[in-house]
Amino acid sequence: MGVFDSGLGGLSVLREMRCLLPSEDMLYFGDSGYCPYGGRPPEFILGRSATVTGYLVERGAKIIVVACNTATSVCIPELRARFDVPIVAMVPAVKPAAAATRSGKIGVLATPLTVTGESLAALIREHARDTEVHPVPAPGLVELVEAGLLSGPQVEDALRPLLCPLLERGVDTVVLGCTHYPFLRNAMTALSGPNLAIIDSGAAVARRTRHVLAEQGLLHTGDVPGRLELFTSGEITHVGAVASRLLGEPVTATHIAV
Ligand code: DGL
Repeated sequence: MGVFDSGLGGLSVLREMRCLLPSEDMLYFGDSGYCPYGGRPPEFILGRSATVTGYLVERGAKIIVVACNTATSVCIPELRARFDVPIVAMVPAVKPAAAATRSGKIGVLATPLTVTGESLAALIREHARDTEVHPVPAPGLVELVEAGLLSGPQVEDALRPLLCPLLERGVDTVVLGCTHYPFLRNAMTALSGPNLAIIDSGAAVARRTRHVLAEQGLLHTGDVPGRLELFTSGEITHVGAVASRLLGEPVTATHIAV
């Protein structure tokens, strides 16, 4: 299976997939050399996503998981048109959040591109019609996770202006619409207190991936644990160290110049 993101955020999805699909071999491509995608032109994001997908398919990936909300909202139809393998995309957890909120008010934290994109607007129209939805662009959080900064004063200073206004408005449920953000969940809870529900879609995407693999007869089961290979366009020592921290196990990164 091939999984990619603009950087290391997609590891929050990969760790869910490794729990659910432990015998699948996984190739992860973190495009950290070009991260963040969030402020870039759509053509650039499509270009990188197609290049990375092409590389993973060439390496034998039987399915691609786009573990990046920004790439999903910009270029999923184009990727599906260009490649023959099944492509699984991210969907921000707006539907479960709308079902869970007691105050009727939810927040959606995402990159600026995802917040202004048509996919999020469509999701809100479809699943959260009767809910007050506050989409919040959160520039800067991706960079913190890429740097391996998950807690401390710098993280709190970045999160406070995003979360406090939501809490003041009575939001009780926040959707993490970027795959980097689950790694900041503890820091968010430390600021908000335990009454704010924070929902991401990693586990749902893992279930969807298993479903697609099973449906297409591609599911691999067995007792032998699958291998994980980590590729990056970024700097391997740094990427390897941060990835090991995020996954809680040692991983080595290989540089790929595509
Ligand atoms: N993890 C990516 C996402 O889910 C971050 C995008 C970026 O690099 O701006 O949107």
